[in-house]
Amino acid sequence: MNPPKFDQDFWEELWAKTLRDHGDKVARRSPNAHLMLEAADLAPGRALDAGCGHGAETLWLAAHGWHVTAVDFSAAALAHGRSLAEAAGAEVAERIDWAERDLSHWTAEPRRYDLVVCLYVHVAGSVEEMVARMASGVAPGGTLLLVGHRPIDPATGAATAAANQVQVSVEAARAALDPRLWELMVAEERPRAVAGTGVDAVIRARRRS
Ligand SMILES: C[S@@+](CC[C@H](N)C(=O)[O-])C[C@H]1O[C@@H](n2cnc3c(N)ncnc32)[C@H](O)[C@@H]1O
Repeated sequence: MNPPKFDQDFWEELWAKTLRDHGDKVARRSPNAHLMLEAADLAPGRALDAGCGHGAETLWLAAHGWHVTAVDFSAAALAHGRSLAEAAGAEVAERIDWAERDLSHWTAEPRRYDLVVCLYVHVAGSVEEMVARMASGVAPGGTLLLVGHRPIDPATGAATAAANQVQVSVEAARAALDPRLWELMVAEERPRAVAGTGVDAVIRARRRS
């Protein structure tokens, strides 16, 4: 059987089914551990959550004072995120703009965001190009946080839940981020804090100017 294409139809169908069958469980999922760790010392400002899914991280950021642009190309995931935000109250909901966009070509306004987050997004084209495009949205002094689930568990060689997907790697991020412009604060593989297998590539970089 051919692996899925991980295109818009794939994600829309997956989100519609997941939210229909397990909507309550999804709504209770904790925000991403890497994000909570790496953003804890940042002063809130403008954030972009690129590939936000149903919005657990967007909601966490908004609850911590960030004004968030939450981008995904799954209408079902965005609708769920919006309803969770409304349930969380006006203060949180008003800090979030939900936007249906395709990240394979959508580009953020240059240097707009104090924090750009892109977690577990499969890239159809070049990873380095995607990293550079995400990085272009970061304001001077701002932070880029990228996390990719590696497709193979290095401990066992077994395929992980991200098998056949192309997500960000430490190598691709290093290649895309010019050290004259970016201070790499974290660029490493870490064990996954959630159920599953393998490691996550975690990249945190600060734009120098
Ligand atoms: C594995 S989920 C991760 C969601 C969320 N970032 C998280 O950490 O739970 C990948 C998300 O990226 C979205 N996505 C994948 N490719 C995309 C694209 N080209 N444009 C916009 N969203 C995309 C999917 O719809 C899905 O919500």
